[in-house]
Amino acid sequence: MSSIAAIVAEIAEEMRGETERGAVASYIPPLACISPDKFGIAVVMVDGTVHAAGDAQEPFSIQSISKVFALTLALGAVGDQLWRRVGREPSGSAFNSIVQLESEQGIPRNPFINAGAIVLCDVLLGRSEPREAIGQMVRFVRTLAGDDEGSIRIDEAVALAEQDTGFRNMALANYMRAFGNIHAPVERVLGVYFHFCALAMTCCELAMAGRYLMNGGRVDGHSIITPSRARRINALMMSCGHYDNSGDFAFRVGLPGKSGVGGGILSIVPGVASIAVWSPGLNGSGNSQLGTLALERLVQRTGWSVFEPRA
Ligand code: DON
Repeated sequence: MSSIAAIVAEIAEEMRGETERGAVASYIPPLACISPDKFGIAVVMVDGTVHAAGDAQEPFSIQSISKVFALTLALGAVGDQLWRRVGREPSGSAFNSIVQLESEQGIPRNPFINAGAIVLCDVLLGRSEPREAIGQMVRFVRTLAGDDEGSIRIDEAVALAEQDTGFRNMALANYMRAFGNIHAPVERVLGVYFHFCALAMTCCELAMAGRYLMNGGRVDGHSIITPSRARRINALMMSCGHYDNSGDFAFRVGLPGKSGVGGGILSIVPGVASIAVWSPGLNGSGNSQLGTLALERLVQRTGWSVFEPRA
């Protein structure tokens, strides 16, 4: 067993015994019934080796982690013009906050808060049908993950529940539309947003899908995005990927990371590894309690923080 494999197995074992597991998201009913006992971890190394432990093969709702893939596609569609409509600063506010939008004229602080991701969905929708934008996302994520069998899918029950409970997202979209920063009808834009949030993937699939960000934009010899774009997406994940908890995540883990209220985190060690962790219990900022702890321990034991002096 390689030392990384041993560390991954050891961390999964430690997480099994943890009692402080956080609280499972309750505002989306299908997420509320997932057991807080779940924990999965998958690490894909730059040479393609995969180390996985715990519930790494069980699909979960990736929720806001999909914002990373939406950003990648939106930059592909409109390039740097995107930055006229979305900022690149940490918000210091909750993921679904509306407060900054008034003083900042409907321009969201960054693409990873809900308001920013709703703008990404508007860009990806353009003049097409929501099902085309949703289909494009599913195909993109399957390609990134090397999922030839098409097992990555959208959980329609989750998408419906998002729709039924998404009053804040409706407020955000309508408010930005009033400022002219949403162009398509809000119901269609939100239909895309809710379906992106409802993507279901396993830790193994998610870590595979993150390979392009560890590899300077390349996967299996194919260029997905340029190296500079991969570097910039990683920078945004580090500064904005955990909402008002991003500073603490950088302090404790020191890696680009993107969380979701389903309890998943995708974290990238540039040039070394793509990591997915999942445990549904969340801390006060809506980020996975054990997922963060597991990443903190992994980084301590491997020296993988980007702030670690390079040999
Ligand atoms: O917009 C929402 O409420 C959710 N579907 C997604 C939020 C999310 O995952 C925020 N992340 N930590």
